Amino acid sequence: MDSGGKHVTLQLMLAVGTAVIGSLQFGYNTGVINAPQKIIQAFYNETWFDRYSSPISETQLTTLWAISVAIFSIGGIFGSFSVGLFVNRFGRRNSMMLANVLAFIAAALMGFSKIGGSWEMLIIGRFVVGLYSGLSTGFVPMYVGEISPTALRGALGTLHQLGVVIGILLAQVFGIDSIMGNAALWPLLLGLTFIPAVVQCILLPLCPESPRYLLINCNEENKAKSVLKKLRGVTDVSADLQEMKEESRQMMQENKVTIAELFRSPLYRQPLLIAVVLQLSQQLSGINAVFYYSTDIFSKAGVEQPVYATIGAGAVNTAFTVVSLFVVERAGRRSLHLLGLLGMAGSAVLMTIALALLDKLAWMSYISIVAVFAFVAFFEIGPGPIPWFIVAELFSQGPRPAAIAVAGFSNWTANFIVGMCFPYVEKLCGSYVFIIFTLLLLGFFIFTYFKVPETKGRTFDEIAAGFRQTAASGVEKNSPEELNSLGADSQL
Ligand code: GLC
Repeated sequence: MDSGGKHVTLQLMLAVGTAVIGSLQFGYNTGVINAPQKIIQAFYNETWFDRYSSPISETQLTTLWAISVAIFSIGGIFGSFSVGLFVNRFGRRNSMMLANVLAFIAAALMGFSKIGGSWEMLIIGRFVVGLYSGLSTGFVPMYVGEISPTALRGALGTLHQLGVVIGILLAQVFGIDSIMGNAALWPLLLGLTFIPAVVQCILLPLCPESPRYLLINCNEENKAKSVLKKLRGVTDVSADLQEMKEESRQMMQENKVTIAELFRSPLYRQPLLIAVVLQLSQQLSGINAVFYYSTDIFSKAGVEQPVYATIGAGAVNTAFTVVSLFVVERAGRRSLHLLGLLGMAGSAVLMTIALALLDKLAWMSYISIVAVFAFVAFFEIGPGPIPWFIVAELFSQGPRPAAIAVAGFSNWTANFIVGMCFPYVEKLCGSYVFIIFTLLLLGFFIFTYFKVPETKGRTFDEIAAGFRQTAASGVEKNSPEELNSLGADSQL
């Protein structure tokens, strides 16, 4: 069934574009703390001196800094887990609107922390913006998945990740010392997060509520129909409506699905396992070892201008997300994810070799740059964008919010673990640290190969039906090929 074809209307672009401002915020706050590290640490030191009339100790400073970085992911863990509390009560669009309150509070806390002479404000601000980002990583893929026509769900879903990577890149560029990464302007650099929040608050009222939410959750068929007409730019939206009604009928049988029920029901076991492992494959690939510590990695590899190499990594990151955007509807999610994981594993091996031979061959520092760039490029081909939007595809309307909450929770927890542990593990294993990621990547490759079905071109209902059949007919019959064939008639 083709629900809505490939028509991209202005209304659809406005809605998706506005939603992914939330993704941009997540990316910006992921990247923003990297470059001004030394300058903000100097502020911590001065503040400490003013209060206690003695300089801060090295260990105390390291701990305070580690908390400032990692508390963002703790906020993300709480935020992503709370997604379900909002989306069914307030709707998808209004939930995104509400979340901006957190962005404003965070911007104020971080932006005024210097004037207030308080690193506590900065740390609490990082926590609050983490809460916001955790909510965004649930709200945005859910909203975008629900308003997109089936044939474009992957491409538009990738825009969430494009928002994230542009956010990271902006933060890296603004963080250069001649721009805002200096003693006078760093509070502005952190507080800047209020601008996207203002823009989103202005644009969201012009965007429609998710028609799936209107029809399936609120039983407002007429409203859903008129929203669909605007989003699709056609007057006949019966195919879309029909598919949603089918999903709604199924949902009546499912009732409302809580997180506890999601774990109990055999119906969701397979898609839940896939959703969680895909999230883990994204984070345990080691990508944030690069995005949190690349400057450090590059300087250890003997690169002369590590900050510029970091910005290079951000640019490659953005470029390859665009590549994925254009190929995902043709190549499919499964093959791109497999290609990405394998390519990352290869790049990690190359990186290990480069770091190991650095003492003997100075030009290995260039190879290390190539390896990091390749690592990042392969990440964005599949493991970057796909896990974020595939969860919305793997579940129907009933269990979707709970599933997105569990998936987001897994993602953010793994993010926190890598962020916290990488420096210590690196101290322990030296240049062989990336071998750990290589092994994990190969494990995820095998899992994806055997367990992950293709979802390209299939309606939500067809995908759910595939899993229902599997659950009914005994687990291991669920080969990806079998599930694929289910949607074969609706492929592009
Ligand atoms: C994904 C990850 C995020 C990472 C980013 C890098 O969005 O979830 O943690 O920093 O990709 O591009």
